[in-house]
Amino acid sequence: MALHDRWVQERKHERYYKLAKKLNYRSRASFKIIQLDNRFSIFREGDSVVDLGASPGGWLQVAKERTGESGKVIGVDLRPIRPIEGITTIVGDITDGNTMAELLEKFGGKADVVLSDMAPNIAGHYSTDHARSMELCMFAVDVCDRVLKRNGTCVMKAFMGDMIDGLTKELEKRFRSVRITSPDASRDTSSEVYIVSKGFLASSDVRPAPVHKDEKKPEFTVKGGVI
Ligand SMILES: C[S@@+](CC[C@H](N)C(=O)[O-])C[C@H]1O[C@@H](n2cnc3c(N)ncnc32)[C@H](O)[C@@H]1O
Repeated sequence: MALHDRWVQERKHERYYKLAKKLNYRSRASFKIIQLDNRFSIFREGDSVVDLGASPGGWLQVAKERTGESGKVIGVDLRPIRPIEGITTIVGDITDGNTMAELLEKFGGKADVVLSDMAPNIAGHYSTDHARSMELCMFAVDVCDRVLKRNGTCVMKAFMGDMIDGLTKELEKRFRSVRITSPDASRDTSSEVYIVSKGFLASSDVRPAPVHKDEKKPEFTVKGGVI
């Protein structure tokens, strides 16, 4: 990255970081979902929301604020999330059947919105990071197949690369509209984008396999590569 671009990015990070502190958000990431919600109307009062990759909790705070008292919000992450009033959290790996089973049990119903800000540990190797990000995205798609209501919305983070078309095709099978976007608060890395999918079709053609605890991790195929 050119020196000037790096300077601009650092200033932006600092601006959002200070703003997050001032407004008591747990992470700069809060502004990404705020900007996405302002543009794409993700949340409505009373919505049920599943947030994958939720730690430290910036998106959870925004989801709760925007769905209000009657909103139901649950967050899942590998890392613990400091408690937030009115929000249920689960510590676990969403690619693990035990965590998926715990999510289905604790959430106990259908969601209006599935969010995923999950990011793999960055290897610094473009195609490896992209492939890992695609795998996490396919798990987010799997969560949609299991819990999303007809007409529901999904927002997921993805790292751009050659498998992105395969992922968007999977999403287009399931949603009426699929848009790839990059909110101002994002653009952390040149490859980070957000995919906003609206109007879940809840098609009976898509039947997720039953979840079994302690089962081998399923494999997902995205056109352009097997994950
Ligand atoms: C960018 S952070 C999320 C920030 C969060 N949206 C916020 O506003 O505070 C990405 C998170 O994804 C989580 N993550 C990565 N892989 C995961 C997995 N397989 N299951 C659950 N969480 C995962 C990481 O632990 C990390 O906390």
